[in-house]
Amino acid sequence: TRLDAGDAYVLPGLIDSHVHFRTPGLTHKEDWEHGSRAAVAGGVTTVLDMPNTVPPTLSPEALWEKAGLVRGHSLVDHRFHIGLDPERPELLAELAPEVATSAKIFMAGHHTAPTVVRDPAQLEKAFIAAAQSGVQLVLHAEDGELLALLDSWQGAPGSYGHYEAHRPRTGTIAAVARVVELVRRHGARAHILHLSSAEEADLVSAAQAAGLPVTFEVTGHHLSFTDADTRRLGARTRLSPAIRGQADQDRLWEALRQGLPSTLGSDHAPHTVEEKTRSVEQSPPGLPGVQELAVAVWTGMRRRWPEEDPDTAACRLVRHLASGPAELFRLPGKGRLEAGADADLAIFAPEATWMLSSDQLHAKCGWSAYEGWTMTGQVLRTLRAGRVVWDLESRSFGAYDGQLLGAEEV
Ligand code: NCD
Ligand code: ZN
Ligand code: ZN
Repeated sequence: TRLDAGDAYVLPGLIDSHVHFRTPGLTHKEDWEHGSRAAVAGGVTTVLDMPNTVPPTLSPEALWEKAGLVRGHSLVDHRFHIGLDPERPELLAELAPEVATSAKIFMAGHHTAPTVVRDPAQLEKAFIAAAQSGVQLVLHAEDGELLALLDSWQGAPGSYGHYEAHRPRTGTIAAVARVVELVRRHGARAHILHLSSAEEADLVSAAQAAGLPVTFEVTGHHLSFTDADTRRLGARTRLSPAIRGQADQDRLWEALRQGLPSTLGSDHAPHTVEEKTRSVEQSPPGLPGVQELAVAVWTGMRRRWPEEDPDTAACRLVRHLASGPAELFRLPGKGRLEAGADADLAIFAPEATWMLSSDQLHAKCGWSAYEGWTMTGQVLRTLRAGRVVWDLESRSFGAYDGQLLGAEEV
């Protein structure tokens, strides 16, 4: 087939290594039909899905079961992060790379965190197991002990009580410092998710400069919003870790300018409109973003660095949303435009401007914190395995035949 992209960029299909598509058990919030539609409408052709479902996916059997539920319902290729079971860190040794790219550790609880590794001794055991097995860790790094203490002050342990304003930056900074120290001691590969503050960026860059195998993700949300927006948008931008101030956001953009994050992720974490119209304290943290990720980052880049050559900016997108995650998570055939790679493509119009409104959204929850944003850049068409899975002009999708990556090699 011939493809005429005109003046648009032909990018490798984007990889979102941090989505919560909520299957099984939370499909009132999101499911793979809707989540993968939102993905391809945003140029994303591969996702890595998180384990905090009901029940959580804490074993290889649970992952294969999830893979079975997803089959025939996804437009995008996929793999999973397994949830680390603190009682059984030795499971890491039997992890099949065909289903799990990595193991996720929640260091602090919030209502969607299934198993929290709060005990420092347990955490250390997990790092030792990961170092021995070579499994990549991904971490929600917040200080669980500190948050439990704050919870008890508010008299609402285990509830949504720890409103983000009480989840101080010191909690994430302390946790990131702990991760860096464990990597230094044991040599495990650790990827810190949703970095939120300037101090964390400083800590991780220093660790990288010292040669430690620690990497990090920045989310579209932390690049797009500040605490000024959270005051305006309330529960909708309630996120864990919290969206912080302008100086923190500026530092995350600076890290991006230096090419430091290995991945940009959406942390696509939908909750229903009903849940998000409660008070901030009563509403669960998380917001959708897989459809918005690439355009929101592109919009931010063009606004912040208007002098930058658009080709250079496009290379940044590819690095952080395609080749970076493909390399970190060892995704065969993904992230590059070259002979032998999968024919996953995103046709991206860099200068298109448009306003994001709710009728363009494909996630099941039906809302976005980006509603009303004037976006620069638009995904015109998305191809997965050589076939069109999203066409903007006709607003149509392809068939739900996304593959579990590498499964055929088992
Ligand atoms: C996520 C969710 O709702 O699953 N929420 C969030 O605030 N980020 C969980 C997570 O990624 O920590
Ligand atoms: Zn998290
Ligand atoms: Zn998440």
